[in-house]
Amino acid sequence: MTDLIALVDRFGRRHNSLRISITDRCNIRCFYCMPEHNAEFLPRSSVLTFEEIERLARLMVHRCGVRDIRITGGEPLVRRDCVELVAMLAKIEGLADLSMTTNGILLREKAVELRSAGLQRLNISLDTLDEATFVKITRRSGVDQVIAGIDAAIEAGFESIKLNALAIRGISESELVGLVRFAIERGVTLRFIEFMPLDSDRAWQSADVLSGDACLELLSRAFGQVTPAGREHLSSPAETFVLSSEGREGTIGIIRSVTRPFCGDCNRLRLTADGGLRNCLFAQTETPLRDAMRDGCDDDMLIQKIQQCVGEKHAAHGIDSNNFRPPDRPMHAIGG
Ligand code: 5AD
Ligand code: SF4
Repeated sequence: MTDLIALVDRFGRRHNSLRISITDRCNIRCFYCMPEHNAEFLPRSSVLTFEEIERLARLMVHRCGVRDIRITGGEPLVRRDCVELVAMLAKIEGLADLSMTTNGILLREKAVELRSAGLQRLNISLDTLDEATFVKITRRSGVDQVIAGIDAAIEAGFESIKLNALAIRGISESELVGLVRFAIERGVTLRFIEFMPLDSDRAWQSADVLSGDACLELLSRAFGQVTPAGREHLSSPAETFVLSSEGREGTIGIIRSVTRPFCGDCNRLRLTADGGLRNCLFAQTETPLRDAMRDGCDDDMLIQKIQQCVGEKHAAHGIDSNNFRPPDRPMHAIGG
């Protein structure tokens, strides 16, 4: 057996979690991520093949100690034959957790297949239950489709299902309570995520963030006691809280990426659909692995590049600093 090459950075953070974006395309157009018109997408030849993705995933699990893989997009379910890729990744020995983040639009038809292929956990984006608000956010219709997708996923028996709701000032205030009730009724965890400066319109302002504190205040006004219950797990960005709605207890999460950054505990790396390895959502540089692979780079050389990428990771994202600059790629091209 070859020795493990742990991906430890200058600050002692060990990277064992990989997010793989399998496409930068999407079937909706959330304003916090994509432009309304003329979104630019990668040409297909630039996108990693399933074999290339599997090679990198296998290498990072077997040689670098990666334990979790999350499949992201764009919207991962719009990539043709994505279930096949799930099955390929699920077969990697030593991979402890395989999950996906999806907008849920195509989930009704895909949930059972995904589960059978070996996908363990799902995060589904749900910012509102109201169709008019859904259209305002996504510039497309379809909240009923998403809800049907969530129900299909619950039925399909995933190990865990979480709902992600962005916390945006001026939009989310009226949605929070209904979303929490919806999640508790269905026995799934809802997490509020502070809106980050990753929109392709570059319109984000700090005033647009509905802070975790503001969310908690709104929730305690509606539900009474909201009791802190610690981090979801050690390197999880979500702080959990317990509350009860009509006699039923539920757990919610708050992800304060902007007002209380958790960079010090970050264990994540990200692979873009065209094979760029990123050490941070907000990184200004990335390590291109696709052409290295296509030019015949061997595993050891690839690992060197991966290590170098980890070595260049900054201590924190610095959103609150005066000279903060968002990354060149918008969210749909990074993967979330
Ligand atoms: N800020 C925070 N989260 C975002 N997401 C997309 N854009 C942003 C942003 N600007 C989240 C979505 C989805 C996941 C893919 O990333 O809510 O759950
Ligand atoms: Fe699509 Fe997700 Fe971006 Fe919304 S956030 S436009 S669902 S990729």
